[in-house]
Amino acid sequence: MKICVMPGDGIGREIVAQALRVLDKVGAKFGKKFETEEALIGGSAIDATGGPLPEATVKLCKASDAVLLGAVGGPKWDTIDPSIRPERGLLGIRKELGLFANLRPASLFPELKHACYLRSDIVAKGIDLLVVRELTGGAYFGTPKGVEVRDGERVGFNNMIYSEHEIRRIAKVGFEAARKRRKQLCSVDKANVLDVSRLWREVVIEVSKDYPDVELSHMYVDNAAMQLVRDPSQFDVIVTENLFGDILSDEASVITGSIGMLPSASLGEGNPGLFEPIHGSAPDIAGQNKANPLATILSVAMLLRFTDDTMTPLAVAIEGAVQKTLSQGYRTGDIREDGCKLVGCVEMADAVLANL
Ligand code: IPM
Ligand code: MG
Repeated sequence: MKICVMPGDGIGREIVAQALRVLDKVGAKFGKKFETEEALIGGSAIDATGGPLPEATVKLCKASDAVLLGAVGGPKWDTIDPSIRPERGLLGIRKELGLFANLRPASLFPELKHACYLRSDIVAKGIDLLVVRELTGGAYFGTPKGVEVRDGERVGFNNMIYSEHEIRRIAKVGFEAARKRRKQLCSVDKANVLDVSRLWREVVIEVSKDYPDVELSHMYVDNAAMQLVRDPSQFDVIVTENLFGDILSDEASVITGSIGMLPSASLGEGNPGLFEPIHGSAPDIAGQNKANPLATILSVAMLLRFTDDTMTPLAVAIEGAVQKTLSQGYRTGDIREDGCKLVGCVEMADAVLANL
């Protein structure tokens, strides 16, 4: 398996380095070899090449079986021309690889119950949901867009636009995912206000005819935001458009207590998938050996599972090792608790390696 590795910015480099140690070790254990090659993206690519997504990076990604990403962005590039911000690199590679389906699981590790932000009676009901976010459409990519002067004042605009084939294919991903889980799909929209959402709902209902075994429900996005904190246990799979999914997936992941624990997959058709932790580049703790590497390590597990069926045992081994590490009390700062073994990024990975 050939993996394109893009550490990116901030804590990206340190967490990816630890995840690669885990990849090596699990490969050795199961007699599999991985070929990894590094590519630039985000701020570090801007510094080196003047743009956030060099042509060489796109080429290397396309020639790989999978892509592993750390994180992009940081204050250093906050004042840069918006058209070449680090985030543009991430948006660009999603578009280039046609990664329209973003899978963001949010579940509560039993060992980390204390870190959960919700009341204990709510936590007791459990959190195990999956946000399926559309990733290459909507307001993120719609045109026309821009800022211009009209009647003597500045006007800013974006276009939340979806064609039915875009809605249909992401709805299918949602239904398929639900089929493999508890068979409940909640489609989130704003159909009481937005025309684009009305179409979204219509198409999702059309697609549902092919999935009679999956129970489909609809929820307005404002209500969904509220229900996620009120009772997240009611959700199995949520499918939603790009911007709503951006917001709701952050909410869903943070209520579990640590955004530092959760991996994600971005998938398309006929191109390699991209796997990355849900969290960002955390510039405030970058280079201090404080970052939690577990989300990236779990992203490696997800990468193995989604890229090659025969790699499932390796993914299971990594996930088991992470679980064991948590049960042994190892914690980075973001998930620390009284009496835990507080460790840094490298030591956390050491513990996972030992458990592997
Ligand atoms: C995410 C991030 C990105 C997004 C940014 C960094 C462009 O917030 O992956 O959720 O908005 O999609
Ligand atoms: Mg986001």
